[in-house]
Amino acid sequence: MANYTFFRFLRSLRTLCAPITAVICFSLMLTYVFILYQPTVGPGITQRMGWQSWDSVSLSSSAASSNEGSGSTGTDWWDTSATDESVDYASLPLDVWAPLLPHDTGLSEITLTRCLIDPAYAPDICKPDTTPEQDAIKGNWVRVDRNVNLEAGYLTGFLNIYYRRTRRQDVNLVTDLVLLPKDQSPSGDGFWKKAELSARAGVRGAEPLFLWYQLGKTAAQMSADERKNIVTEIDVHFGDDIPWYGFEKLQPPTLISNGATQDTFITFRRGVKLPPKAPDLHFSHEGKFKILQVADLHYSVSLGHCRDVDWPCDHADNLTNTLLGHVMDEEKPDLVVFTGDQLNGQSTSWDPKSVLAKFARAAMERKTPWAAVFGNHDSEVGLSRAGQMELMKGLPYNLVLRGPQDIHGVGNYLHKVYSADASKTHLLTLYFLDSGDYAKGIYNFWGAFMPTSYDYLRQNQIDWFLKESGAISPISRPFLPDSGKDLGDAWDSDDTDAVDSRQFGQLTPDPAHLVKPNALMFFHIPLPESYAKADKDPQTGADLVVGLKEDKGQGSSKESDGFFEKAILKAVKSEHNAAKKETEVKVIANGHCHLTENCRRVKGVWLCFGGGGSYSGYGKIGFDRRFRVYDISDYGETIETYKRTEKDEIVDRMFLAGRDAPGL
Ligand SMILES: *[C@@H]1O[C@H](CO)[C@@H](O)[C@H](O)[C@H]1NC(C)=O
Repeated sequence: MANYTFFRFLRSLRTLCAPITAVICFSLMLTYVFILYQPTVGPGITQRMGWQSWDSVSLSSSAASSNEGSGSTGTDWWDTSATDESVDYASLPLDVWAPLLPHDTGLSEITLTRCLIDPAYAPDICKPDTTPEQDAIKGNWVRVDRNVNLEAGYLTGFLNIYYRRTRRQDVNLVTDLVLLPKDQSPSGDGFWKKAELSARAGVRGAEPLFLWYQLGKTAAQMSADERKNIVTEIDVHFGDDIPWYGFEKLQPPTLISNGATQDTFITFRRGVKLPPKAPDLHFSHEGKFKILQVADLHYSVSLGHCRDVDWPCDHADNLTNTLLGHVMDEEKPDLVVFTGDQLNGQSTSWDPKSVLAKFARAAMERKTPWAAVFGNHDSEVGLSRAGQMELMKGLPYNLVLRGPQDIHGVGNYLHKVYSADASKTHLLTLYFLDSGDYAKGIYNFWGAFMPTSYDYLRQNQIDWFLKESGAISPISRPFLPDSGKDLGDAWDSDDTDAVDSRQFGQLTPDPAHLVKPNALMFFHIPLPESYAKADKDPQTGADLVVGLKEDKGQGSSKESDGFFEKAILKAVKSEHNAAKKETEVKVIANGHCHLTENCRRVKGVWLCFGGGGSYSGYGKIGFDRRFRVYDISDYGETIETYKRTEKDEIVDRMFLAGRDAPGL
């Protein structure tokens, strides 16, 4: 934005100044930028002296962290508990409903309106009455852009909550909300006002239910603690599962489920609830890093329905979350990766926001960082991938990224996993790609889209990956925690043998050399190579395929831009080591096929399926739900994998890279 205005400013300069005077204009500008426009030192100069000496105190604690190594006493570099979020609250817009923004400003008035046309298309017709004076004092009306009557049928119209938000210090602010039937009013003290229209207006046969709000002190009169508790945002949530992070549900539901519909709730937030940030990913001091892959949750609005189980099962999403929580407690992963189809699509996840609120719950509650890619079902209904990405970025401990806008899909990104020591060396790369949804389809007689082919990774994603991979700096491998930064020694082979036996006596001796860190790649729809002829184990001659393939046919797209050949096989571990042609990406991790959970090695690269872990997704009686674990050790050299089932069995434990992995 700032850039844009700056260029506009430049352009206006150009039109103002004739060519000859352009030189003068330009030198005036230079004078302004480099001489006049300087932050003034001002009277703060004395304080800065103080700040410096304070800074040197904190330096000593970071020095302590740099000479840890065995059980640190200082603070580790990824400890973010001390960094406070600096949000410029004063810059947040007051007149738009943007519930992800961390508003600390309060509301001054709340009402509901019912409109037979969508207020998005007729904002002025549906808006509550106001006067310029009221707008100036209490703030403009802001529409909560969620139809409270969405589940009540088209004829009930659009029932919307409106509020006024203000930064003024002399206006009484909303401190509480309740919903009450017709003939009741809030008990307890304080000044309560009622929104005149029922929160069930338009719904036939429904008992009226009124939204009351308590007006407390003005911002100027409130203590800091009181201000932290004011109502700062209102939203609408569908279904009986947990509301959005930081929000509370107002009971009872405004619309009560009739079996075919879902409960509808008004939700609200008190104060500012900034979602905690995930720290940078890092190995343990012992060189371990564990990833839990969660494939194909297929969650819906509300609690979900069980599929393909032979025991009494209801509330499938909730049961799956309980199982996932248990698996996380057993495995204690450092990262959870959701590999697509978090949402069921197919009309049951019709309000993606209400479903996104809960899919990562187990990870969020355990303060475990998580990443996600999209599957083919995620954006079938309700909200685009880009819209869902924005929402996910508002959830605690997320590591999702939008990625470049000019390539196929949403959420093509990577994360580096670093060493725990102060060198913060990049030891492992995790690539996340969007394999899209449907490449082709036809419209049936009723105008519904019938997909005929799954999507695939495109040429521009190949280009993106090769560019990112090319930009990764080689490191000295195997990594040694205390000399990680000292790449110069790596070339000295006499030295490295000694170092090897000291730190990696148990490893196959592999002289340290400058190569890229190992990488894993995650996307939803498998490549055709996931069904190709497997490599043979050079020792035993057996096919390198481990695990089940119970799905019929192939889950890959009928089309391909040759991602495996043109991207995976081209990104080699080291250009200097061309003879070996070892790839940077050791493992490709997919979802999509719930009854297929095998790992197959093709041309030196493992292609693994996660296996269905959700009671809400299709399965098969007798096929236990399961989650795949990637247990990485030796500072990124060794990659081990196995699956943990709903019966807590560990299945198919095997090495994919490094120690004890089958040779190339
Ligand atoms: C959801 O699961 C939890 C256990 O994790 C249980 O206590 C709770 O009652 C369940 N809720 C529903 C509505 O099934």
